[in-house]
Amino acid sequence: MITLLINIKELIQVREKGVKKVVGSDMKNLPTIKNAFLAIENEKIIDYGVMENIPSYSAAILVDCTGKMVFPTWCDSHTHIVYAGTREQEFVDRINGLTYEEIAKRGGGILNSAKRLKDSSEDELYELTKVRLDEVMRLGTGAIEIKSGYGLATDAELKMLRVVKRLKKDFDLPIKATFLGAHAFPEEFKENQEAYVDIIINEMLPKVASENLAEFIDVFCETGYFTVAQTEKIIKAGKALGLQPKVHVNQFTTIGGVEKCVDNNALSVDHLEVLNEKDIAALQNSDTMPVALPSCSYFLSIPYTPARTIIDNNLPLALASDYNPGSTPSGNMNFVVATACIKMKMTPEEAINAATINGAYAMNLSNEVGSITRGKKANFFITKEISSYNFLPYNFGASVIESVYIDGKLI
Ligand code: NIG
Ligand code: FE
Repeated sequence: MITLLINIKELIQVREKGVKKVVGSDMKNLPTIKNAFLAIENEKIIDYGVMENIPSYSAAILVDCTGKMVFPTWCDSHTHIVYAGTREQEFVDRINGLTYEEIAKRGGGILNSAKRLKDSSEDELYELTKVRLDEVMRLGTGAIEIKSGYGLATDAELKMLRVVKRLKKDFDLPIKATFLGAHAFPEEFKENQEAYVDIIINEMLPKVASENLAEFIDVFCETGYFTVAQTEKIIKAGKALGLQPKVHVNQFTTIGGVEKCVDNNALSVDHLEVLNEKDIAALQNSDTMPVALPSCSYFLSIPYTPARTIIDNNLPLALASDYNPGSTPSGNMNFVVATACIKMKMTPEEAINAATINGAYAMNLSNEVGSITRGKKANFFITKEISSYNFLPYNFGASVIESVYIDGKLI
């Protein structure tokens, strides 16, 4: 059965097959079709164009979109949505003057989440995560990456990734899993870091790989967390088992991690709140996607990733939520896009490109999602009646989304 969306005020992000990412000044270009139709069959986009050229389909379900726009769903390439408890006390502690680093030093932060996750069963975690996934899908997310990293012990890391595996089975949207055993050093390894690195490489990774639990490997490469040398050791071990690196780097300090990640063909480098010329130079002529997480900067009151510098140096940029209980308790990609426009001076066209096709690239999903393209998954959302696509980021803090379709099905 064909589903036919008609009288679409503007169909957003329409691209020919084969566009994997958009780079530099091309990010200012957002291809659209005004007064459009969109045809869906068997979970896929089969056709689109202007209303005057609409073919005649027999027996189609008609959806009238008069006054409304249609976007491809957001591609959120960086989340930590498998977690057990919330951390609003740390939020209050920060209001009262402590920094994220100070809270972590006192045993809060990632270690706090690890403590709570340890006591939760796989079923409990699955139920909690399912609710979050449902919530972000209703906010327009139609492809997502999910990390481990609150286990910090072999069983607990595997438990997190098994939750992701179940979600992959039960949900229609594309989900990619990332192994982030190297998120923080557990208390008992603070004085013996190499022993924990050893456990990651020799105990966790082989199990992750043999159970086929992750596509990607991540490390929190940062002062006070994993050094550049440790990061390289871990991502090389991951690569040897077929896991591509996607790395947390340059959140608070620039220590040479970007260059190392690029050297190791990282699919993406994420955070980049601080970035120097060497980092930019390393990213040029590479296939590595820089990823900005503006909701994290907003919530922690830390600098925003310098999007203008990145894009004006002819690099691509993707936007993701970083949804997690500590630094970003929000998975709302509409807010991410708005914040990128407001705080990072990205144009709406750049921000929409960054949150769709470039986000898809940062998950190796450019062939499946990220644009309205014949043959791609019919993952899209219909807005309420809006005056222009600029209204979406302008209307920050609220959602203009009326309905979301995943695999051509209304959710
Ligand atoms: O991406 N920076 C490292 N990891 C997460 C935060 C983790 C936490 O605080 O729980 C992030 O911001
Ligand atoms: Fe993160």
